[in-house]
Amino acid sequence: MRRLLIAGNWKMHKTVEGALSLIRELKRLVSDVNHRDILVCPPFTALYAVRAELKGSNISLGAQNMFYEEEGAFTGEISPLMLRDVGCSYVILGHSERRHIFGETDELINKKVLSAVNHGLIPILCVGETLQEREDGKTKEVIERQVREGLKGLSETSEFVIAYEPVWAIGTGRTATPELAEEVHSFIRELLSEMFGAKKAESVRILYGGSVKPENAAGLLSQPNIDGSLVGGASLKADSFAKIVKFDAEG
Ligand code: PGA
Repeated sequence: MRRLLIAGNWKMHKTVEGALSLIRELKRLVSDVNHRDILVCPPFTALYAVRAELKGSNISLGAQNMFYEEEGAFTGEISPLMLRDVGCSYVILGHSERRHIFGETDELINKKVLSAVNHGLIPILCVGETLQEREDGKTKEVIERQVREGLKGLSETSEFVIAYEPVWAIGTGRTATPELAEEVHSFIRELLSEMFGAKKAESVRILYGGSVKPENAAGLLSQPNIDGSLVGGASLKADSFAKIVKFDAEG
């Protein structure tokens, strides 16, 4: 059985002080959760402070991006060693905002994915089609390319997570229906089975992201191939994120 993973992507939000108050409240609200994994991905500047606050808690720490080299003349970049140093165990890679605003290609994202795995970080590879691509009937083609290119060079022993985030659902309030999301998730699992074998495919967690909220979490998360969520806006408030984490308890 795959353990659900509920991950908060704070994007470019929160000062150190704001991050600390959010994490203190969240810790209190989810301290009784031990049947699913909880992850927060604050901005780089708050990672160190948040790590200290998370010691001994049931919440893991991740980053929102990284460069693939260990060190060097790469002004403005952050390396996998630095992320390990501040206590990260996960890193989000290939988020649609990285792809579309910062021009990240599948090739670059793949280098980051390989580097993350080689440095003991669990990459969360984000994939998703734009509205235009969906309307043109290219959803599966786009997802297949992003999955195959993004995971190139990994093996069945590599640990990784995939997040399906339709671009038209991110930050728009427009969520994919559970059925539509499930269709893509099961397609991704079939692809993983072709690439890494059925056993590995069964063990990989595939998260859904895009306007996930307490009100729609249960419908999405009860689908057989949806193994958690990557939450943006609703992760910036402790109570809404905690409600998503505990969705079944909320009824
Ligand atoms: P959203 O963002 O929940 O605000 O739509 C999700 C994401 O981009 O990871």
